[in-house]
Amino acid sequence: MTEKFAVRPALSTTPAYIPGKPPAAVEGIESYKLSSNENHLPPLPGVVEAAARAAGTPSHYPDPAAVALTEQLANHLGVPAERILFSAGASEMLASLARITLEAGTEVVYPWPSFEMYPQVTALAGATQHAVALTADFRHDLDAMAAAITESTRLVLLCSPNNPTGSVIRRAEFDAFMARVPSRVLVVLDEAYWEFGTDPEAVDGLAAQRTHPNLVVVRTFSKAHGLAGLRIGFAVADPEIILELRKAVLPFSVTAMAQAAARESLSRVSEVEVRAKEIAGLRDELISGLREQGWQVPESHGNYVWLPLTAGAADFEAQALAAGVAVRNLKDGVRISVGPEAAMSRVLEVAGRFRAAVER
Ligand SMILES: Cc1ncc(COP(=O)(O)O)c(C=O)c1O
Repeated sequence: MTEKFAVRPALSTTPAYIPGKPPAAVEGIESYKLSSNENHLPPLPGVVEAAARAAGTPSHYPDPAAVALTEQLANHLGVPAERILFSAGASEMLASLARITLEAGTEVVYPWPSFEMYPQVTALAGATQHAVALTADFRHDLDAMAAAITESTRLVLLCSPNNPTGSVIRRAEFDAFMARVPSRVLVVLDEAYWEFGTDPEAVDGLAAQRTHPNLVVVRTFSKAHGLAGLRIGFAVADPEIILELRKAVLPFSVTAMAQAAARESLSRVSEVEVRAKEIAGLRDELISGLREQGWQVPESHGNYVWLPLTAGAADFEAQALAAGVAVRNLKDGVRISVGPEAAMSRVLEVAGRFRAAVER
């Protein structure tokens, strides 16, 4: 008899990542993918060309230390280069952080709902998970998260702005939380949507690192820079943490194309920041439009909006798909990424019709 192949027991409780759906083609109208929090604008002029030039020598491995890019980012952020490490998207960094801290018998604390990769990478590592529910107003429940930390906790994940709800962690609540976290526990602040944030009280992970050496900041070029398809993100942390992370991030995972594109985009970062704030403007208009229709929509600081739906998320998703818009159904609600103005109008039409039908 052939035996079934053997895998680690941790896989039995590990969810596979479910990506955002593509939109369905609807005759006569343009379709929009608003299900993956992608930037609807193309990268800045010159970025694609820089990537294409770097693609000219595919027989060579990329610079594994991304020296030039690291130097450039260090200057931009005002941190020493030894505090920076690149990876294939923030995703690879999150997986690496789980890998250097977690194993069977250890514990992780993260908010929920939040980024769907947190349960995946931490379950795969074999850790016991404490997914702490957000507060009624969709924010991290930092009191409950601090209370969930035990002797076995090795990792805490925080997401600000939180995907999918858009809320940010404020400086004062962050400091109060950190005061309750033992210094042996690594705290990760996932700031994938940092550039879209418009709350002056939001914690800035880089500034917070001055007083919290166990804090790892994770950011990405996928969102505001619009380079999701090239896969490049990074961590900023104490050099000793970076040394350990270097053992977990796969060598050569950041391609030469990704490095070149990131360098070009970073060289014009003020334009990236302007565009991120324009996207934030579209986001706030969408929120106002939805609120005028009677929806309870939380303030968002990402490039997306959270529409809480106690029931009916699947119906909303289906109706949006029929109207040529793919949104993300996360069961307790739908997450709608910011897209071009025409897409936002389409979303408002769908949302208005949906509400009218429910209220009837
Ligand atoms: C909160 C959060 N963190 C990290 C990521 C991963 O980004 P990437 O791997 O594309 O850099 C995402 C992607 O959607 C995200 O929403």
